[in-house]
Amino acid sequence: MRTPVIAGNWKMHKTVEEAVDFVETIQRSELPGEVETVLCAPFLALPALAEKAKGSKIGIGAQNVHWEEQGAYTGEVSVPMLKAAGVQYVIIGHSERRTYFAETDETVNRKVKAAIAGGLTPIVCVGEVLEERESGQTKQVVQEQVKKGLNGLSSEEMKKVIIAYEPVWAIGTGKASTAEDAEEVISFIRKTVADLFDQQVANEVRIQYGGSVKPENIGTYIAQPNIDGALVGGASLEPASFLKLVEAAA
Ligand code: G3H
Repeated sequence: MRTPVIAGNWKMHKTVEEAVDFVETIQRSELPGEVETVLCAPFLALPALAEKAKGSKIGIGAQNVHWEEQGAYTGEVSVPMLKAAGVQYVIIGHSERRTYFAETDETVNRKVKAAIAGGLTPIVCVGEVLEERESGQTKQVVQEQVKKGLNGLSSEEMKKVIIAYEPVWAIGTGKASTAEDAEEVISFIRKTVADLFDQQVANEVRIQYGGSVKPENIGTYIAQPNIDGALVGGASLEPASFLKLVEAAA
């Protein structure tokens, strides 16, 4: 019922030329129609990628955005700027932004609202750090992030959000969560969405898993009833590996 989303998060990788080469390579293969395929690239590559991907099955996403439309915010990029460049998605609240760039649930909330108001699909990241997992606080932590990050959205707005559950200890470490553990947390997130909004919204909202997803393990996540695809870092950097992830989700 829900279309799975495979989103590559390239993080701070690829020049414009490398990014365009990547898209040209994957465009030589037939992408499955039943998977939403997204590439989230550094800002500089976005206009060229959006141009290349126009009319194809590939969606283009940014990795961050500011909540104001314009103004004295040195170094920032706004939703209308991304829209004008042909971008359709934006990752918000990735753990690296929370850890290194002081992103908070409050700034996540502002960005999510701005993204939706401006017609971008937000991919909102939540997830616990290792100490929180080990002390049994995972559900409490993700519940708080979901509540605060998505506070004040209408049900219609919430249906446009994609949530990515990324346990921080699993990101870039090769220590992926088991599919069963990810399913448990993601079904809890879905229940949280039902409590905050309603059951219909919870049934419709897509929730991805992220953290050391690779072609070898993606099938185990996709097989879970509540996991609607993946947000992938390292394994999205090579065309062959990214294609395998997309094909496995079909
Ligand atoms: O946004 C993607 C995640 O941070 C996962 O990264 O697949 O390299 O572990 P990873």
